[in-house]
Amino acid sequence: MTEKTILRALKGEVLPTPPIWMMRQAGRYLPEYRATRAQAGDFLSLCYTPDLAAEVTLQPIRRFGFDAAILFADILLICQALGAKLWFETGEGPRLSTVTSAAEIEALKPADAIHDTLAPVYETVRILSRELPKETTLIGFAGAPWTVATYMVAGRGTRDQGPAHALKTSDRAAFQALIDRLTDATIDYLSMQVQVGAEVVKLFDSWAGSLKGQDFTDFAVAPTARIIAELKSRHPGLPIIAFPREAGQGYVGFARATGADCVALDNSVSPEWAAANVQVDGCVQGNLAPGYMVTGGPEMDTAIRQVVRAFAKGPHIFNLGHGITPEADPDNVARMIEVVRGG
Ligand code: CP3
Repeated sequence: MTEKTILRALKGEVLPTPPIWMMRQAGRYLPEYRATRAQAGDFLSLCYTPDLAAEVTLQPIRRFGFDAAILFADILLICQALGAKLWFETGEGPRLSTVTSAAEIEALKPADAIHDTLAPVYETVRILSRELPKETTLIGFAGAPWTVATYMVAGRGTRDQGPAHALKTSDRAAFQALIDRLTDATIDYLSMQVQVGAEVVKLFDSWAGSLKGQDFTDFAVAPTARIIAELKSRHPGLPIIAFPREAGQGYVGFARATGADCVALDNSVSPEWAAANVQVDGCVQGNLAPGYMVTGGPEMDTAIRQVVRAFAKGPHIFNLGHGITPEADPDNVARMIEVVRGG
């Protein structure tokens, strides 16, 4: 059997057509997702019901034939597994009980206690590794420690990650302890996803862009490097994608500094710049602006071709620069795949 295209790109192979998948490919822009979510009742029940989570993971594969499926779950489930309260306010986003002191961080559950809560996620992975088409790669994931910490400290999403920055300044030792706890838990979580069938794992550091200078090194690079080193020692050859979103200049050398096989790029960097400065070190993923999935048209075709062309001389996985939004038109997604595959 020939190896799956995503795995070939992750090993550094330059393919005539880049493999393609899409962040948030299972999501509210799809009527079949909205129907299954309604059946589940709410978002967290969908995440924790393996048959339904597997079903929504498979929906975009059936409809579009993407080269990879990403496990349906959320980066914040691990907070719940560590003992925080988590719920989603409809139309607003996540809410959590906050963790803001050394004592509260100390009181979190140890890394090896997370698996009870996360057992349904592992069951979803098992179902998917049985049911996915043989050419489709299964991607597991977790949030990177800094991004997860920003939600745990603030108790919600924030525009500027202010509460996490404030704790980092007022009590750097406590903040480091939180990062260390999340790093340990993330290693065990991803390792278990791999044991039950994930073929690739991705670390989402959505708020990496708000870390500057030494903070970027300490809280984006260092935890990512430790997670990758430990995962690769437990699972030799495991391909790992890192997404330090909006890292800007921080993308340069990120693969070398962390051991990531692929760096995912947001759409604030031009593909030409990223080809010259990031793809020189290996595979990249990205980075079409998600807004084109709403607006479509000839401008979308042009932008897609620009991304494909810019990255054509090196290993590349086509993706958006961030998740597809609920207002997107599924017909634009179908057209994107057609253009990437030569239409
Ligand atoms: O990409 C996929 O299809 C896989 C599943 C996935 C989800 N969230 C499902 C989801 C993945 C990989 C994530 C990652 C995630 N979750 C991130 C990192 C990536 C990024 O977008 O920056 C973050 C920051 C979260 C936390 C989170 N989950 C927020 C802030 C929200 C609310 C905002 C929003 O988009 O609604 C969620 C909810 C969420 N996670 C939805 C989905 C499909 C929408 C929930 C719904 O159906 O109502």
